[in-house]
Amino acid sequence: MAEKTKRHWAEPYKIKVVEPLKMTTREDREKAIVEAGYNTFLLKSDDVYIDLLTDSGTSAMSDAQWAAMMLGDEAYAGSKNFYAMCDTITEHYGYKHVIPTHQGRGAEHILSQIMIDRDKDQVVPGNMYFTTTKLHQELAGGKFVDVIIDEAHDPTNLHPFKGSIDLDKLKGVVAEYGADRVAYVSFEGNVNMAGGQPASMKNFREVYEYCQPLGIHVFLDATRCVENCYFIKVREDGYQDKSIKEILKEMCSYSDGCTMSSKKDHLVNIGGFLAVNDDDIAEQAREMVVVYEGLHTYGGMAGRDMQAMAQGIVECVQIDHLRARMMQTEYLGQQLIDHNIPIVQPIGGHAVYLDAKKFLPHIDQDEFPAQVLASELYVEGGVRAMERGNVSAGRRADGKNHRPNLEMVRLTIPRRVYTKSHMDVTWESIVDLYERRESVKGLRFVYEPKLLRFFQARFEKVE
Ligand code: F0G
Repeated sequence: MAEKTKRHWAEPYKIKVVEPLKMTTREDREKAIVEAGYNTFLLKSDDVYIDLLTDSGTSAMSDAQWAAMMLGDEAYAGSKNFYAMCDTITEHYGYKHVIPTHQGRGAEHILSQIMIDRDKDQVVPGNMYFTTTKLHQELAGGKFVDVIIDEAHDPTNLHPFKGSIDLDKLKGVVAEYGADRVAYVSFEGNVNMAGGQPASMKNFREVYEYCQPLGIHVFLDATRCVENCYFIKVREDGYQDKSIKEILKEMCSYSDGCTMSSKKDHLVNIGGFLAVNDDDIAEQAREMVVVYEGLHTYGGMAGRDMQAMAQGIVECVQIDHLRARMMQTEYLGQQLIDHNIPIVQPIGGHAVYLDAKKFLPHIDQDEFPAQVLASELYVEGGVRAMERGNVSAGRRADGKNHRPNLEMVRLTIPRRVYTKSHMDVTWESIVDLYERRESVKGLRFVYEPKLLRFFQARFEKVE
């Protein structure tokens, strides 16, 4: 990125390969969304103009990453790509052992099964749930307890580190259950469900310093920790002059390991890992990975995937890349704020979140305002976003919908994929939709899966 002497910013790369997009009419999109049961996960990507469903596995790889793909040796066991990947992970994250998995949830599965003792009726405190993380904890016999600071549940609260853990809440959980019944603390960087909100370095340090003497392990969900590091660099005293790499290393030093979905920060389309310092946990994880993922030296990834990841890790901590990425999110968010569209603030890292309760106040949460909003945005501008509200939160033990405080639509920005003009079309479509919001109606289920229902649910309009 050019020095900060200019009023405008531009991406620190030029476009070498393009993928043409299909242009659709409003009529085409109205038909497509009905066929998809008003669920944007069920749309064909060919029918989407600007795909902001997720930043997961959707990054554009660099020329150096594509070159790295050619280095894939594709050996079944012990490929050089595995060792290159491990060395890069250890260099950047500091952990001793790396167990590769096909993506993040593969690592969550293994960690949850190893760390949660079914017979002890254990809890896993964490800073707001993530869907797959929580489900794997539950499937292993644990119970997730939310210990994020209260500010995270308020979309308008401007706390600079809204993703932080409330130490008093964590102490309360330990007092209630006893340290022995706390399986581990699950600490997510740049909390996805809170709106891409960071935790401070002070918080990472304090949580670890509290847990260590009690023998409670702290595991990071490091999926977007690099983006968390950016916020630490620009918002926390003492970090302005530190490199992202240094900040990341310090952050990870306040934990015993991490699960990682490399499909986000690491600029690859598939991959992940579990990394730990403890020899014993690593051994158990290696035993499990061969059952569920693949041999412990590939874990579901091809050699070329591991080599591309190694290169992606080196690129993702570059400040020019990271700054351009975060400024693109900020640009979209700021345009929406300037047009009085209700969004979660401060603007997060990987996404801008529309506040669906405020956008569609006439729709009750049990008629899924965020789901409605995501489907209407597709019709309006061919923009695909994701529901993150009552549908994603699932049902409580008593069978009722969770009705979470945050009822949001996530406009998730893939890394290095879209231009500023795509962001302009996006905010303009949202503003047009806002102007006709009163005519928009709610939804009800016609098919509701039992687990992770948001992926495959189908709806119809409430007339
Ligand atoms: N943790 C976080 C914070 C995530 O955002 C995700 C995935 C995972 C774990 C699971 O990783 O998909 O590689 O198995 N988030 C995607 C998203 C699906 O769209 O936010 P995975």
